[in-house]
Formats: sequence, C-alpha cells, structure tokens
Amino acid sequence: MTDRELINLAREASKNAYAPYSHFPVGAALECSDGTVFTGCNIENVALGCTICAERAAVCKAVSEGKRSFRCIAIWSAGAEYCVPCGTCRQVLNEFSPSMEILAAKNDGRYVSYRLSALLPAAFGKEQLR
Ligand code: THU
Repeated sequence: MTDRELINLAREASKNAYAPYSHFPVGAALECSDGTVFTGCNIENVALGCTICAERAAVCKAVSEGKRSFRCIAIWSAGAEYCVPCGTCRQVLNEFSPSMEILAAKNDGRYVSYRLSALLPAAFGKEQLR
C-alpha cells in the first residue's frame, strides 16, 4: 500500500474517534508485513488515564487477529502539527516491530516519515529479559 493510501485510511478511521474531552480525533492505519491493514481511533474515558490512543487501538486489533509483524503505521490528526506517537505507543509498537516505519500526518495531508528506532532510541526490548 502506498503512503498516501495508508494515510487516507488513517484519516477515515479518525471519524470514529471518541474524543469528547480533548476534542482531538486521531486515526491510525497499521499495515502488517503480510499486507493486511488494521485501523484504529482514539477512545477516551472520563477517567482520563484509561484513554487508548489510535495507534494502540490498531495494534490491539492486529495482535488479537494473530498479526505480530508490522511494516508501517500511518497516524492522522485534525491538528496543525504532525501527529507523532506518544511514548506509550512507541513502546507498544517496539514490542513487535522495532524497525517499522511511522508516517505522521497532519490536517493538510502533509506527512513526515520516521523509523521507530529513531523515535525510541536505546529502547527496552524483549532481548533484555533474556
Ligand atoms: N492521541 C492519539 O490517539 N495518538 C497520538 O499519537 C497522540 C495522542 C490521542 C490521545 C487523546 O485521546 C488525544 O489524542 C489527546 O491527547
């Protein structure tokens, strides 16, 4: 899938965001290594710490369907700045695919691309438990 197609899916997914507290809808589209795509949106909660980001919603859908290897995730928000994943989402993505690509888009459709390893350097990973 092209970057643009993945970003468009992320933007579409943001329409399902449940964001009554921040009013900041986010969508994500996660492409697995086999080409399967799972989307997600942020799901807020009145107990704010229970909020689930769009990226983690997409990861949960993928892993619960048996996918554990990811090529790329696109993130789209209505904001004027590129929507990069929070620290918790970086760690959750790192569990499965440390060198995956991250596409961070903003409201005008422009985007920037990173390797997860650049966004989470010196990560605590599975190998450290061995
Ligand atoms: N949020 C995401 O879903 N993904 C990000 O990459 C950044 C933040 C959500 C969490 C919360 O619902 C809202 O955006 C404001 O932080």
